[in-house]
Order: sequence, then structure tokens, then C-alpha cells
Amino acid sequence: MTAKRSETAVLDDGSATAIEHAYTKMTPTSAAMMRRASQSMTRGITRSLSWFAPYPVVFERGEESALYDLDGNRYIDLFSNGLSLIHGHAYRPIDEALRTALSRGTAWPGASDAQVEFAELLCERVPGVEQVRFTNTGTEATMLAVKLARHLTGRQLVVKGVHAYHGSFEDLEAGLLGRGAIAGRVALASFGDLDSWSEELDRHAGEVAAVIVEPIQYTGVVTTPPDGFLRELQRLTRDAGALFILDDCLMFRLAEGGSAERFGLAPADITCLGKWIGGGLPVGVIGARRELMKCFDPDSAHPLYHGGSFNGNLLGSVAGRIAVRDFTAEAIQRIDSCGDRLRAALHTAAAAAGISLYTPGLGSVFGLYVLDGADGAIDWRATAHLHLAAVTHGVYYGSGGEFGLNTALGEEDLERAIGGLEGAIRDLASR
Ligand SMILES: Cc1ncc(COP(=O)(O)O)c(C=O)c1O
Repeated sequence: MTAKRSETAVLDDGSATAIEHAYTKMTPTSAAMMRRASQSMTRGITRSLSWFAPYPVVFERGEESALYDLDGNRYIDLFSNGLSLIHGHAYRPIDEALRTALSRGTAWPGASDAQVEFAELLCERVPGVEQVRFTNTGTEATMLAVKLARHLTGRQLVVKGVHAYHGSFEDLEAGLLGRGAIAGRVALASFGDLDSWSEELDRHAGEVAAVIVEPIQYTGVVTTPPDGFLRELQRLTRDAGALFILDDCLMFRLAEGGSAERFGLAPADITCLGKWIGGGLPVGVIGARRELMKCFDPDSAHPLYHGGSFNGNLLGSVAGRIAVRDFTAEAIQRIDSCGDRLRAALHTAAAAAGISLYTPGLGSVFGLYVLDGADGAIDWRATAHLHLAAVTHGVYYGSGGEFGLNTALGEEDLERAIGGLEGAIRDLASR
């Protein structure tokens, strides 16, 4: 599947459908708020991913597995804020701990007990991580990982996947939205195609500081790695004298120790965490062996400077530790099986409606795309219509077809979600 979702809204062509009418009818207050929002923010949004046509829903609150919009509509949330809420909304243990912590202030210039406990838990959980550094987002974590790799190797080049998203900054946006490689800084290879990585590593022998990879490439079209791909890539990287950066911001959900454990990899040289690691608050992390992390020591010969006023702040540390602590092997198995059931139900409903779907992914994380009956390519317009139809049936997932389940999803929610998605598929079929 090489088709790629256009970043411009696919429904922005003025051809209103019954699905769009149903949507606009149930969300008049969101429409008015988006008109107002567009005065102070371009298109009314402050995050590219938020947009979908004719306008996105404006939310009022989140509670456990549900989101509520300004019109009082309730949605089962199968997107979890771009996979950043592993326990759903307002998870009670985090909510209570934050209320207590708030009375102590929010951020200090030094460590806190909560920060140290969180760091210890991460070192216990993630293979190969002996020490961590906190940041405020996944973007900052991958920026820092690249900076660390360049500092340690004295080389500048990073090899990353085409279409792979590792955060919102220039170097790691190479290969996205039609952007090419950046000479001397970033080379591009194709996820799943080992030869293309091998060629880049050979072409730039002696120049590559790091290979950065997301174990399931999530951006564009969700793509799972072919058997052995990640292990072989890790070997190629080591042979090239480069560092292997595992961007586990999203996929740390795949096993207690993250995706290295799930895919049977040797511990990564540098692991990046983000998204749900903050328990709903903005937190990013890099972790690595002590021997690599020691360059952050201010007393080392050539220390690497790393600032950040809110790194490891009290609230993020309190929330993050609880999120990780409560994300057990049992919880992982449960959300993975919910994902499997959802995908099976989607295919059954689609077959009954005469629609062809593509749902690549693993367990709790997958994409949902409608295929063109004629050539089997992804039909992005129908995919966008299906998303909008799902919203009208009280089911929320990413407008590019992205799903990422959370532990708040109960049996009843799952049944409701399946019912809503079946309704959406029927609406799409009768479009
Ligand atoms: C794989 C991956 N890495 C890094 C990031 C950046 O995280 P953040 O949005 O917290 O900056 C994202 C965000 O979607 C991501 O998907």
C-alpha cells in the first residue's frame, strides 16, 4: 500500500453528502466555535492532525472511554488523543494524584521524589535503559536522541523512513509530505525494505550517526514490519558503527517493555518515549545505557548540554509513573484483543455491505482504510467519509483512519463502538 493521504482535507471539495449533512446537523455549536476559532488560529486549529472537513468537532470534556462535544454528543474514543492516553480520559488514580500534587506547585529547578521514582520505573521497564533524560514532548525526545547520537559519534547523518513521523522539526520531517532527504543531515529509506536501508548505509559509509525507526510505521498508512526486518536493521546499523534509535513514542504500548520486547530486538542504543508516557500530560523521555548517557554529566570532558525548564516536572512525573505502573501485561493483552475483535467486526460488516477495507496494524493499534473496488488502492475520499460517518454514529477515531485503543474501553463501549462502525459502513455503502 503506497497510497498516501493528502494533508489537505479530502472532503473539502464542496460536494455535500448525506453523511456531511448528518454531521453538520448534530454539531452546530462546534461549527460556530470553529468559525470563531479561525479568526485567531489558521483554520481554527493549532495542530495539523486536528483538522478534518467540513470542520472538526470541538470537545467539551473527556471521561474514561468517552469524549463529549459542545453540543453534548458522546463519542466512544478509539483514538486516545493520537495514542497519548493509554488509560482513557480523567483516569481516576491519575486525577486524584494530580489533585494532591497540585498543592505542592508544578515545577521546580531540581529533582523531586516523583521524578526519581518515575525515572527508576522506566529504567526497570525498558530493556537497555539504564538512565533517562526527561523532555516535554516526543518531538523533543527524538530531537535530543539525534543530538546525542551526533555528539557521541561525531557524525551528522541520520537515516530515517520515508513517510515516518518522528516529531515536528525540520531534520526529522525529511521524507514527509513530499519532502526529500537533507544533504549531509538526513538520508531516507523505505520502511520494510531492508535493501533500501542497506544501500543508504553503504552509500554513506562512515557518515551515519544513527538510524531512527518507529517499529510499526504509523504515519500515512499504518505499516507493520516484515518478519525479521527490525532485527536485521538493528544489525546493519551496528555494522555501520551507527546508533540504533527506537522511536517508541507510540508503540511502547505493545508490551510491558515496549516494542523491543514485542519484536524480540536487542535493546536499542537510544529509546525515545512520549505520548502516553506522561499519563495525559506532556512528557517525553530518552533512555540509554549509562555509558552513552554519561556525556550529559556536566563534569565530563565534552558534556552535552540539555536544557528544558519543565523537564521532569512534578505533575508529569506523578501522572507518568502511574500510567506506566498501571499498564500491565494483562491490560496490554486486553486492549490488543479488543483491537482484534474490532477489526474482525469491521471486515464482517464491510463484506455484508459490499465494501472492501484494509486494516493493517497489531493489537490495539491499526489503521482503517477503504479500498477502491477497481484497483485495490486506498480510496482516501471514501476513507474520510467513513470517518465522518463514524463520528455521526458516536465513534471517534483519527480522521486519517488511525486507531489506538485505551484501557478504559469496557465491554459495553466496545459493543457500542462496533454498532456505530457497522452503521457508518452501511451509510458509506448507501452514499
Ligand atoms: C512516532 C512518533 N514520534 C514522535 C512524535 C512526536 O510526539 P509529540 O507530538 O509529543 O511531539 C510522534 C507524534 O505523533 C510520533 O508519532
